Amino acid sequence: MNNLRTSIIEIKKRCTQAINSSLDINILEQARLLFLSRKGEVASLMDCLKKLSLEDKKEFGPLLNELKEELNHLFHTKHQELLLKEFQEEEKKDAFFDVTAYIPQQTNGSLHVYTQAVHEIQNVFISMGYKVMDGPEIETDYYNFEALNIPQNHPARDMQDTFWIDVPGLVMRTHTSNVQVRTMELHNPPFAIIAHGRTFRNEATDASHDCMFRQLEGLVVSEDASIAQLIATMQLFLRSYFKKESIKVRCRPSYFPFVEPGIEIDMSCPFCSSGCSTCKHSTWIEVVGAGLVHPHVLKAGGIDAQKYAGFAFGFGLTRLVMIKYGIKDIRLLHNPQIEFLKQF
Ligand code: DAH
Repeated sequence: MNNLRTSIIEIKKRCTQAINSSLDINILEQARLLFLSRKGEVASLMDCLKKLSLEDKKEFGPLLNELKEELNHLFHTKHQELLLKEFQEEEKKDAFFDVTAYIPQQTNGSLHVYTQAVHEIQNVFISMGYKVMDGPEIETDYYNFEALNIPQNHPARDMQDTFWIDVPGLVMRTHTSNVQVRTMELHNPPFAIIAHGRTFRNEATDASHDCMFRQLEGLVVSEDASIAQLIATMQLFLRSYFKKESIKVRCRPSYFPFVEPGIEIDMSCPFCSSGCSTCKHSTWIEVVGAGLVHPHVLKAGGIDAQKYAGFAFGFGLTRLVMIKYGIKDIRLLHNPQIEFLKQF
């Protein structure tokens, strides 16, 4: 029986030491498994009781129960203490916010290249006294065609492959020129406006065509608006946008029903002097359709065509951006491909 007595003392000593020296919950759990679990050392001692005589059971039963209770109590007290310690340490971590700590690289968003272009373009025109107008993308036949001197059955309607929509009399606007007569109805001359936005044409998509592209429209109405002012304005704008003072412009006669005379303006290639792929080796790039506003259009806008004159211009905004950044495929601009877009 002395053996059993020594075992009780010895287990008590080892278990107490193991519990007291546990530095965290995991180590304490190891001690519990070793001594206090169902297959632990204390349980094995209890098993020995079964083989004892009744007398010995009376003596050792209470001793073993006492041992078990004492050690369990010790374990629970330590467990609580370690839990509290862990909680306090976590709290301390939260309270101390290290602003110099390493953070993994963050990916930032940036403005779309169109948005950047629009900001730059607006700045140039606003500095010349222009206001920025807006117009609807779904437009009436009237503002998109009729008021612009393109009546029903006019062959010029075929020049623009229109998306007609199910509601009669409405189209996806084929150009930003729809803003012209809307502006005349709202403002008394003299005024100068630009309007930019999406335009739509029923075209097959390839590297240089898309069924949606952007245009930049301009309209000036005043008593002395002239072709000379128009050309000077175009030259000034192109020099600012391409950041190149030596850019020149040249005009060719052209036809648009809403202007008379109509012209097309080319700019000298901003990237070369003797021909490159951007100017198709001609040193000139076609950039804008323009002209003096047709009297029929002024009339549709309620403006006295005897007193006032106007000039108007329409850039392919998409084209301007593609030229400026050397983008060879329009589809890249209209897809949300982050690797492409984040270059700008
Ligand atoms: N709206 C024309 C187009 O989409 C471009 C244009 C030409 C606009 C001459 C104008 C203009 O304002 O005067 O092709």
